[in-house]
Amino acid sequence: MIIAIDGPAAAGKGTLSRRIAAEYGFHHLDTGLTYRAVAKALIDAGQTLDDEVAAEAFAEGIDLAGLDRHALSAHAVGEAASRIAVMPAVRQALVRAQRRFSEKTPGAVLDGRDIGTVVCPQAPVKLFVTASPEVRARRRFDEMVATGQTADFLSVLADIRKRDARDTERADSPMRPAEDAHLIDTSEMSIEAAFLAAKTLIDAALKP
Ligand code: CDP
Ligand code: CDP
Repeated sequence: MIIAIDGPAAAGKGTLSRRIAAEYGFHHLDTGLTYRAVAKALIDAGQTLDDEVAAEAFAEGIDLAGLDRHALSAHAVGEAASRIAVMPAVRQALVRAQRRFSEKTPGAVLDGRDIGTVVCPQAPVKLFVTASPEVRARRRFDEMVATGQTADFLSVLADIRKRDARDTERADSPMRPAEDAHLIDTSEMSIEAAFLAAKTLIDAALKP
């Protein structure tokens, strides 16, 4: 069983994915962390973000078991991740690792930008989770304040819009809902309400 969850930054993909994985006893991979890990490896090695050869080498060597959400959470790392995510060689290497993960039993929940369209187009349940840019910026802003990062709302909103543009306009695997994806707009939805909407769809797909 594969559950594909896509959508823009701070739409609630990760929160929903973790909840679904806990409910059904499935494995969960936040594929954004794989792009973040490559970006952070480049930064830590003192390489520039346009060094495709170095980025590809880090992507080839990705260790999914060693991804540490906390260590990769910085705003600047997310921004850098969306820049290296335009490189086809990086995407190919990471997609290979993500597909291996998706074969885990009894099931896997993968969240990202291109799970339903590219990584696991055969997934029986595809969700596209979204929310307005303002709501998403508010969520990101609140998270940054809560974790002691300095933030101002308007620049967080500008970054969200810039990231949306980069993710939807890139040539390789742009972010878009798969044709058979169910849209969940969480702008005015609680985390619980989003989970219940997803659960209804998953339970229907699991019925023999
Ligand atoms: O957590 P947030 O939504 O801010 O971003 P993320 O999921 O950690 O992803 C960081 C960046 O990686 C995104 O802006 C995308 O450019 C890229 N990404 C991607 O291209 N494909 C994926 N499947 C996941 C992330
Ligand atoms: O993974 P993604 O970047 O799409 O978003 P997330 O990290 O799951 O959610 C971003 C923030 O929005 C978290 O602090 C969630 O608690 C919050 N959230 C919310 O307030 N209401 C929702 N329906 C979903 C998420």
